[in-house]
Amino acid sequence: MTRKFFVCGNWKMNGSKKSIGELIQTLNTAKLDPNVEVVCAAPAIYLELTRSELDPKFSVAAQNCYIVPSGGFTGEISPAMIKDCGVNWVILGHSERRHVFGESDELIGQKTAHALENGLGVIACIGEKLDEREGGITEKVVFAQTKVIADNVKDWSKVVLAYEPVWAIGTGKTASPQQAQEVHDKLREWLKTNVSEAVANSVRIIYGGSVTGGTCKELASQKDVDGFLVGGASLKPEFIDIINAKA
Ligand code: 13P
Repeated sequence: MTRKFFVCGNWKMNGSKKSIGELIQTLNTAKLDPNVEVVCAAPAIYLELTRSELDPKFSVAAQNCYIVPSGGFTGEISPAMIKDCGVNWVILGHSERRHVFGESDELIGQKTAHALENGLGVIACIGEKLDEREGGITEKVVFAQTKVIADNVKDWSKVVLAYEPVWAIGTGKTASPQQAQEVHDKLREWLKTNVSEAVANSVRIIYGGSVTGGTCKELASQKDVDGFLVGGASLKPEFIDIINAKA
């Protein structure tokens, strides 16, 4: 079973029309490994700009969405609106949504169900905090987060699972290739036991947390690392090297 390598740049709340335009030019003209699926997750207000300027060979993702198509939910956007802008993916359950904005597992599950039902692909994020890793409960935490997501998925072909240890996000402390592989392997085992062997073999499990041009190759060589979710480095030309990590 070959899983197509998947690299998503999560621009978070960064960029301007000018800087995003320059980044898109860099991506559009770069020499990229054709065997990699590349997605750019832009701030909501720049989704349409990003979709219109980025070469169609790239996909675009929103960074969040709500659980109904429309209504009195000031500040939110729906999968229907995201699709209306020509955008096909959404990141859900990012640790910044969980821990800065207090999103619960239950809400992330509802968002996953609604996004999938409305035709978006979902990059579903999970990951333990530092005290949870140090307390030896990494597996317990990521399995519990994965279960809530899994309970809301009917079609796994539209889901990418992103393992992002919270202690590695924006800290410059990348998980070692062995640490990443260990959790990815456990997650695949969990999927095999709790979903199916076919899903365990086919779902892409990508790693996020301080991935750089320097760390990407060894991480990418791990058997169960099927790509990356990249924050800071996705705003720099270095993102090209990360896309080409396996080339
Ligand atoms: P950094 O790559 O900046 O650590 O961010 C990771 C991340 O949160 C991607 O979603």
